[in-house]
Amino acid sequence: MAQIWDPDQYLKFHGPRIRPALDLLAQIPVETADVIYDLGCGPGNLTGFIQARWPDAVLTGVDSSAEMLAEAREKHPDMVWQQADLATWTPESAPDVLYSNAVYQWLGNHEALFPRLAGFLKPGGVLALQMPRNWNAPSHAVMHDVVADSPWAEQLRPQLQHDPVSPPDVYYDILRPHVEKIDIWETEYLQVLDGDNAVAEWTKGTALKPLLDVLDDEQEAAFFSEYSARTQALYPRRADGKTLYPFRRLFIVATV
Ligand SMILES: C[S@@+](CC[C@H](N)C(=O)[O-])C[C@H]1O[C@@H](n2cnc3c(N)ncnc32)[C@H](O)[C@@H]1O
Repeated sequence: MAQIWDPDQYLKFHGPRIRPALDLLAQIPVETADVIYDLGCGPGNLTGFIQARWPDAVLTGVDSSAEMLAEAREKHPDMVWQQADLATWTPESAPDVLYSNAVYQWLGNHEALFPRLAGFLKPGGVLALQMPRNWNAPSHAVMHDVVADSPWAEQLRPQLQHDPVSPPDVYYDILRPHVEKIDIWETEYLQVLDGDNAVAEWTKGTALKPLLDVLDDEQEAAFFSEYSARTQALYPRRADGKTLYPFRRLFIVATV
């Protein structure tokens, strides 16, 4: 465990995207584990932290993106990486821990998928999930306005996500019949971001991406410029040059 809290390592990955992933990891009540999956592992940023907590476990990172997995494999050639769609994925062996950070908001169908995941676990195993629940924040609400006012509204509207993550009590009801113990909480992080246009740059890699992906380069530049102007007005830079971006996230730790 010591390695997870190594200060140098922690500060190196101190970015606001890593912090909730580590907060989730810290709450998993499993001492020893043989089989762990990192679902939607992306470029493997967290997989090293997970392996450090359970060094003897066989850890498999699962993701649908070949590009993400190529980067992950380069970082950790010794780990197992698997390309699969989590909508239909089934583990090869019964896991002690199923861990997933910032992924299932893209999949939907939580009422079927989460009980299915819980059903794969060994007795005493843990399902640990974190999802952003920030769709009503000004940064996300304004996306709908910019889309409506843009010349590409028809094309963009189907790409807008509407509250893909439900309130905590909904997940309690979904999972309770399938698990022994369930711990659900929300945290709103006051993220302190550096740089120009910080909030728009943040969402560019996440919630804004499906919109930008359907536009050509010129359209994308115009759309992003309008979105940036509006978010800068909503999240003005502070006297020290930083931008404060409150961000709410939902955490689920369920033990079977
Ligand atoms: C925001 S990233 C999170 C990556 C990593 N968990 C982290 O927190 O750094 C979301 C990841 O989910 C993956 N993903 C999205 N939908 C997926 C699906 N249906 N099946 C598998 N992976 C999926 C994406 O390819 C991406 O790597």
